[in-house]
Amino acid sequence: MQLWKGRFKKALSKTTNDFNSSISFDSRMYKEDIEGSIAHSAMLGKCGIISQEDAKAIGEGLKGILADIESGKLTIDPEAEDIHTFIEGELTARLGDTGKRLHTARSRNDQVAVDIKLYLKNQIEEITDLVKGLIAVICGKAEENAETVMPGYTHLQRAQPITFGHHLMAYAEMLLRDLSRLKDCYERADVMPLGSGALACTTYPIDREYTKELLDFAAVTHNSLDGVSDRDYCIELAADLAIIMVHLSRFSEEIIMWCSWEFKFVELDDAFSTGSSIMPQKKNPDIAELVRGKSGRVFGDLTTLLTVMKGIALAYNKDMQEDKEAIFDAIDTVKMCLTAFTPMLETMKVLPQNMRKAAAGGFINATDCADYLVKKGLPFRDAYKATGELVAKCIEMNLTLETLPLDEYKKICDIFDEGVYEAIGLEKCAYERSPIGGPSPDNVRREVERMRGMVELFQV
Ligand code: ARG
Repeated sequence: MQLWKGRFKKALSKTTNDFNSSISFDSRMYKEDIEGSIAHSAMLGKCGIISQEDAKAIGEGLKGILADIESGKLTIDPEAEDIHTFIEGELTARLGDTGKRLHTARSRNDQVAVDIKLYLKNQIEEITDLVKGLIAVICGKAEENAETVMPGYTHLQRAQPITFGHHLMAYAEMLLRDLSRLKDCYERADVMPLGSGALACTTYPIDREYTKELLDFAAVTHNSLDGVSDRDYCIELAADLAIIMVHLSRFSEEIIMWCSWEFKFVELDDAFSTGSSIMPQKKNPDIAELVRGKSGRVFGDLTTLLTVMKGIALAYNKDMQEDKEAIFDAIDTVKMCLTAFTPMLETMKVLPQNMRKAAAGGFINATDCADYLVKKGLPFRDAYKATGELVAKCIEMNLTLETLPLDEYKKICDIFDEGVYEAIGLEKCAYERSPIGGPSPDNVRREVERMRGMVELFQV
């Protein structure tokens, strides 16, 4: 069924119909399409544009269609042009002429815009909950590991001692920003375009504020051309999702490294690891690798949306139908990744002894050794140089700063005394880094509480 057949003498060829059709991917918006149509018909009835009886019959008819789709009694026709055409066609099949009145003062251009916005708003809520769930797991693990000492890295070289809880909470901070980006995007998607018509609104006395109330939008759009041709909210959500994937991918990369025998800082639960078909000893972090890999899809989806939109003259052009597969794929991918990643992290076993061993091996207390000299009055640059010489000495003698004898210390700088060994103790070095934002156990516990409080307040 085509809605626009009056002007045409021939039907579309099968291949053109398939090429033109969006039903295979926009049918997932059937609920939003029906919701939008129910509100639109109620508004038409209220404004006297159609009769109250017709408005009521249309509303009931649409509810019936929704119930039948959900129960499986009605299957969406894969040959239809799009979901809007299918629902309107079905309504007309059920109600006759009354059904044909639904599309008064409306175009598929404002209809599809409202459908996508309704759909994205729901999805943003779901993704927000998934992100919150991941933050909760991170907070739990961080609390358990508030005192677990590990090496912090720069350039993937052991740098300074930190706590594992602090390291984990870095990801909670990233995800908290993700929540705030999603909330921001929700606000901009929360503006109702229905009433923009095809591009130039309508001469019917419609009440857009009323439709807005019925559909629970915060505001109405104020330019009909922009109302139908804006897809910023898709681009913005795709960008937010791409950034979430950057975070999940970095986290995955670390988990993959931590699982290796070279690190062995953690062990993934058997339920979240896979084996090799040939190497019996293997236990692979496939979930983390897939999350890292799937980030590429979401970046691609963002690029698709940016590219689709960049050359389109106002207002609607069919290019914009390409928005859906990209944004839906980004949404599906992020939801799938979060659903797999969160329980994988929750069940991940932490191996604190191995972290401690790695922390002891890389001179990560060298800065603290220099600071010890500074606290005794030496200028930092001199203290830095003396400690560098000590490290070289240790490497030469195959020792660490903890095991280097005091007389060797004194040979390089006579300010050293026995107190140095306490000053460079790894726990002390990690635990005393306690200004706001530092890795000390008290900070970790406080930040976990703060994070939980912030997340709880987060409502889109
Ligand atoms: N399937 C179309 C889309 O997703 C719906 C809007 C069609 N509008 C039109 N003027 N052909 O963009």
